[in-house]
Amino acid sequence: MAQDTDDLKGAVLAAVSAADIPALDDIRVSALGKKGRITDLMKTLGALPPEERKARGAALNVLKDEIATAIDARQKVLAATALQERLVRESVDVTLASRPQAEGRVHPISQTIDEIVTIFASMGFSVAKGPDIESEYYNFEALNLPSSHPARDMQATFFLPSEGEHKTVLRTQTSPVQIRTMMAQKPPIRIIAPGRTYRCDHDMTHTPMFHQVEGLVIDEASHMGHLKGCLLDFLRAFFGIEDLPIRFRPSYFPFTEPSAEVDIGCSRKNSAGETELRLGNFGDWLEILGCGMVHPNVLKNCGIDPEKYQGFAFGMGIERLAMLKYGIPDLRTFFDADLRWLKHYGFLPLDIPNPALKG
Ligand code: DAH
Repeated sequence: MAQDTDDLKGAVLAAVSAADIPALDDIRVSALGKKGRITDLMKTLGALPPEERKARGAALNVLKDEIATAIDARQKVLAATALQERLVRESVDVTLASRPQAEGRVHPISQTIDEIVTIFASMGFSVAKGPDIESEYYNFEALNLPSSHPARDMQATFFLPSEGEHKTVLRTQTSPVQIRTMMAQKPPIRIIAPGRTYRCDHDMTHTPMFHQVEGLVIDEASHMGHLKGCLLDFLRAFFGIEDLPIRFRPSYFPFTEPSAEVDIGCSRKNSAGETELRLGNFGDWLEILGCGMVHPNVLKNCGIDPEKYQGFAFGMGIERLAMLKYGIPDLRTFFDADLRWLKHYGFLPLDIPNPALKG
């Protein structure tokens, strides 16, 4: 073979053996491409005498094949090396510990509120809200508790420094949300109002801040029977006990007439005679909430005609519901912000611990 083709071959093969993938493409183009060096040499064949042309043409074709083969071989080597490097780099270490579970927990109060809302939402209730700092008027007077009323003493109130006529308190109950709702909305009304409430009390069963959920239904026809059915369905769904017995006991609240307290069935001793609280049809009773038919004075205070409209209300403590359902013994621990407690009693974000809520 001629010296020029020998030189070309030596140069190209040397470049191929040192090339990486992008360089290899450049070599392919510069040697074999339309304007490549082999192609250029091919173009010179026409000027040669026939016998020389034949030998040179054959030699050039061999050279072309050799270069193409060398490029392909190098390409394969480079691809295999790249794959190998990737496999090493991306290998899965099966001995690694599994990823830690999500650290955060949903507080039992939040979980319980979610469950309460879910059950009442399925009965057509929507959620209403009111402020923690409430006017004394909405917290008491509008609810038929005049300032001289003895029932005010039942609620150890935090009074806030207030100017002039407009006195404010930390709301002692969620009941003022009834007033706010009836003043803002026309019947039919069907709301629940979960939220924080405050009283200056502190012992095993009382904390200065706690939570209640209020319920209010106002329309032209809802009566005591609806109240009973609604609370029966709620309590059975919430505790997940289908035959949980419910008892209505006459009671007194200024904003309802008649008023009742509701008890659920329980047992305070286990079969071994030890103290243990269990809910169900065991013959004993536990108070769980207050309720009644909304007092005509309350309707009047909100500009609703008691001759035309009527309805019921109820209120209950959320901590108490959570303690009973989840076996939490001390109310104060809800607000200790102890992470060990939260890890034990808290919920993962997607937990649905209440079988009554599934499906
Ligand atoms: N607000 C009452 C309390 O804090 C609970 C209550 C009782 C609310 C009866 C009501 C009701 O709406 O009808 O003790």
